[in-house]
Amino acid sequence: MTKQSKVTKAVFPVAGLGTRFLPATKSVPKELLPLVDRPLIQYAIEEARAAGIKEFIFVTARGKSALEDYLDHAPHLSATLQNGNKTNLLAELERIRMPSGAVAYARQDEPRGLGHAVWCARHLIGNNPFAVILPDDVIAGPTPCLQQMVEAHGECGGNLVAAMEVAPEMVGSYGILDAMPGQGRLSAVKGMIEKPSPDSAPSNLAVVGRYILDPAVLDQLSKQTIGAGGEIQLTDAIAAEIGRSGVHGYRFKGQRYDCGSKAGYLRATVAFALERPDLRDDFQACLASIAKPQVAAV
Ligand code: G1P
Repeated sequence: MTKQSKVTKAVFPVAGLGTRFLPATKSVPKELLPLVDRPLIQYAIEEARAAGIKEFIFVTARGKSALEDYLDHAPHLSATLQNGNKTNLLAELERIRMPSGAVAYARQDEPRGLGHAVWCARHLIGNNPFAVILPDDVIAGPTPCLQQMVEAHGECGGNLVAAMEVAPEMVGSYGILDAMPGQGRLSAVKGMIEKPSPDSAPSNLAVVGRYILDPAVLDQLSKQTIGAGGEIQLTDAIAAEIGRSGVHGYRFKGQRYDCGSKAGYLRATVAFALERPDLRDDFQACLASIAKPQVAAV
């Protein structure tokens, strides 16, 4: 197992159809759905930047061109804001502006699974360890999750996946780890299985959408092995590296919101709004006024 710490590229698989949010996602990529006023993808990008990522690789698909516009500089919009003296908004656009040449796109031509999506970016990834961020999983906390993982990866090298315990009845929605008892937040992984049935799951320790991967995983993905749900699974390719480049799970510190589900997305919206100094008081009053009639009816 080699120790590696320099992780400068991140892959963002954003080709999914977002069917759980139809009809909204009929024309709006789900990654552009906002939590308050920032799209989901923005949280993922900021987490990556905080972790030292310099190259941002988006795996897109047909119907996702609004994402490319979002990530682009918008000179006309900036000029309009400038003329209108909207300095705060202008500053926000400048803050999120991506450096020239930092963004690259690969296209997933067929919906063949997460593993296939990552593999579609192989020529852009090259030969160094790289991060994968699933924007559906929004993780809040004082130290961004990927930053914690980059530090942990400096210790363990190989492949590192973010992990958290989930309710036993939910294991069928995740990649599940069979991990050795760990020291601190890191545990060596001896097995992993994508979306097991609750009776065949080795534990309830689930993979959450943050990975630091050895490029050997791309060679595993090249085998195009079909896994759970008839798709090429990233979990299977990482599992094939157990005993080779090695796999660890990392129990991150932070609150994860599953923004791929409606309830998780709404929960994140409320939590993020309550964190915002400019909204907190008004929003709290709103919530209280919505909650009141229900209390009265009980
Ligand atoms: C994907 C991965 C799964 C992981 C999950 C985390 O599943 O395949 O291993 O546990 O993300 O959110 P999906 O949610 O795309 O079905």
